[in-house]
Amino acid sequence: MSCVLVVGGGGREHALVWSLSRSPRVERLIAAPGNPGIASCDRTENAPVAASDTAGLVELCRRESVDLVVVGPEGPLAAGLVDALAAAGIAAFGPDASCARLEASKAHCKQFLIDNRIPTAAAHIFRDAGDALTHLQARPDVPVVKASGLAAGKGVIVPETRQEAVAAVESMLIGGRFGAAGSEILLEERLEGQELSVLAFCDGEHFAVLPPAQDHKRLLETGRGPNTGGMGAVAPSPAASPKLIARVSERIIGPTLAALRRAGTPYRGVLYAGLMLTGDGPRVIEFNCRFGDPEAQAVLPLLRSDLYEIMAACATGSLAGAAIDWSPEACAAVVMASAGYPDGRADPAPILGLDGAAGAGCTVFHAGTETIGGVLHATGGRVLAVTAVGPDIEAAARRAHQGVAAIDFEGAQHRADIGLALAEAGRAGPQTPDHPAGR
Ligand code: AMP
Ligand code: GLY
Repeated sequence: MSCVLVVGGGGREHALVWSLSRSPRVERLIAAPGNPGIASCDRTENAPVAASDTAGLVELCRRESVDLVVVGPEGPLAAGLVDALAAAGIAAFGPDASCARLEASKAHCKQFLIDNRIPTAAAHIFRDAGDALTHLQARPDVPVVKASGLAAGKGVIVPETRQEAVAAVESMLIGGRFGAAGSEILLEERLEGQELSVLAFCDGEHFAVLPPAQDHKRLLETGRGPNTGGMGAVAPSPAASPKLIARVSERIIGPTLAALRRAGTPYRGVLYAGLMLTGDGPRVIEFNCRFGDPEAQAVLPLLRSDLYEIMAACATGSLAGAAIDWSPEACAAVVMASAGYPDGRADPAPILGLDGAAGAGCTVFHAGTETIGGVLHATGGRVLAVTAVGPDIEAAARRAHQGVAAIDFEGAQHRADIGLALAEAGRAGPQTPDHPAGR
């Protein structure tokens, strides 16, 4: 019997704890720092240690005799939490800092992709605003502007005009938007097509692909408004045929893991490939070194196998031959965010109606929640992910939207089209809601 520590306190981590708590092999779960929803899972408690406190987390593992650490967010991975745990002899699900640079530095990732002939968009890298603006004026197209470092999923600007591109470059390299994360930028060829996230469990050598999920990055319905961390997700994505997944495995995931192994840094954990399905085949837009949020909330409810056993196999290099069983059903996760998300702040607001959502058959994963004076409050950012499973995406999404309708907190925002636009588009042929085909 095992004690597992899950690092983080968002909706993704709630879904991870919820899934791990179903394992008969897990005796105890600790979340650091966790959240009120996480603490309500079976055999689970929160520990008041920040996800960024590497020394504190190692100490917590020693004190509580933790057998396996599962790291949710990218920050601690990039900061070397898994390296520190390895040095202390503690098994972890998640890549070391060297592998996590694939997410933490888009400049490094781009070089890695080019060196290993993995299909991606062409890009130029700049630190100097003058050089970047000269390059921008000289090229015929309007490129995507990307902060190289970690920017909570908000560091990519897709300008429509050259003027907007100039403003984006200036905001990062002169205005200091995104701080150090934006002191190096990529000007990247704009790709057209549908987007798809393909995630794989990896043990350093072998991998197993998860049901592909589709995120909805934009704040507003039909893919309008600013990019966010993700306003909802569905799985499995109708855009992903088995043939496409085989091609992604063969040309992208497999070669990436082989290159990392050759470099002496085998990748253990979840590798998340953000792809654009272009006319020339799938190309990598980005790698993430962890589960997506809210993709995890839409994928993990479909897992029938024991998540603990899979993660332990990844951590110990024994994933080969593991049979991972997924439900043939579909899942939809609809995010409810605070007023002002993604940029502003909101005052704490009491959350009502969670029982109604449960009564509608939904599982509600918590992110920005806090118990204040004995009452659950929304405390900003993405607050809840209301999740439901059904025979197909439309049925799952309708149920999730029923759950959303039951919940209320002041200023709550959500996208009413999560899963439904996709179902409609599916009838006309597969499309991505935020990037309608033919744009
Ligand atoms: P990322 O944070 O790298 O996933 O980028 C955020 C979003 O920006 C993606 O989900 C895409 O919608 C868009 N994006 C990023 N790179 C490109 C590109 N090269 N061409 C078109 N859109 C892109
Ligand atoms: N939902 C996108 C991400 O987690 O990066």
